[in-house]
Amino acid sequence: QEGISVSDLGQRMGIRTAELIKKLMGMQKMATANQILDADTAELIASDYHWKVERVGFEVEDYLPEVEAKAEDERPRPPVVTIMGHVDHGKTSLLDAIRQASVAAGEAGGITQHIGAYSVSTARGDVTFLDTPGHEAFTSMRARGANVTDIVVLVVAADDGVMPQTIEAIKHAKQAEVPIVVAINKMDVPGANPDRVKKDLASQELVPEEWGGDTIMVPVSAKTKMNLDLLLENLALQAEVLELTANPARPSVGAIVEAKLERGRGPVATVLVQEGTLKLGDAIVTGTHYGRVRAMNNSRGESVKEVKPGYCAEVVGLSGVPTAGDAINVVSDEKAAKQIADHRGMKERQAELSKVSRESLDQLFAKT
Ligand code: GTP
Ligand code: MG
Repeated sequence: QEGISVSDLGQRMGIRTAELIKKLMGMQKMATANQILDADTAELIASDYHWKVERVGFEVEDYLPEVEAKAEDERPRPPVVTIMGHVDHGKTSLLDAIRQASVAAGEAGGITQHIGAYSVSTARGDVTFLDTPGHEAFTSMRARGANVTDIVVLVVAADDGVMPQTIEAIKHAKQAEVPIVVAINKMDVPGANPDRVKKDLASQELVPEEWGGDTIMVPVSAKTKMNLDLLLENLALQAEVLELTANPARPSVGAIVEAKLERGRGPVATVLVQEGTLKLGDAIVTGTHYGRVRAMNNSRGESVKEVKPGYCAEVVGLSGVPTAGDAINVVSDEKAAKQIADHRGMKERQAELSKVSRESLDQLFAKT
């Protein structure tokens, strides 16, 4: 059952919070301004001030647009590829190298800063990459139900071989039932030993194609850019097998990949669009934050008016900095977005408060 905080109730009736707290004390109820009152108590108090409490059930789902899935609305979309692997094996370098290669081929202007998600064009179609700073991000995204990844690129340094986090990554990818493409990196290093990497991976049940298995393994170097095209081609090939589609016409749903507060721009979220087309002006809600899409930049930094499924963009216009891994939804209007965000905020505070009061109760009992 829902409730209302003492201060919210006071505000709505135009009564000072302090007075309500005094009134509650008179009813033998100790309360603070943030305390959530149950509907019965709120009703009792409100009636004393000649107000009537209207009980309304609130379901976030009621505010999200209804979508009927129809096969004919589905269109092909680019694969979303997450890079994983042991520390320092070259995940970020590989991503930057791929991006640089595509930038050099496509347009003028260099790369100013690293970003955690971007799309590149290949001869076989576009591919969207996500960099995972650690497996926690991948796991926490999955825990939140955001199964955003279609393919995992497992980066293994040829001079270092299979390491604990390599094995962890394999475990995560297998649990998520996401196909793995292996990039054996740092092939330029004198001590590079790709055969040892393959042997070690085979004992983790990743058997290379050339040994009769079904795992694609591409020897690459982020430093010399060796075989980056071959890696991209294999990713596109793998994606074709998966036949990935989405409905660009429905209200958009996406996932927050990363977010930060930027001077002058406010909260900036990197959003991966999963369904529907995200458009300028759309009312959006993610976690306890809401707003309107005021500006969007694609992964080349260009300002865009819309983003199709399978692509990511930097989105400006949210009321706060969202949490990576959270879903982002387009809703009918900003009022609905605010209502959902406020409701979630209240739920969070409620949970926090009940935790605090439980803790203080425990302390009380521990003392006696
Ligand atoms: P974490 O994000 O910290 O887990 O590391 P990472 O996997 O992103 O590795 P990163 O790209 O930061 O590279 C680690 C080090 O390896 C850096 O010093 C890179 O310059 C170097 N490195 C990456 N790829 C190559 C390569 O192909 N050849 C050589 N020689 N060095 C590389
Ligand atoms: Mg890195």
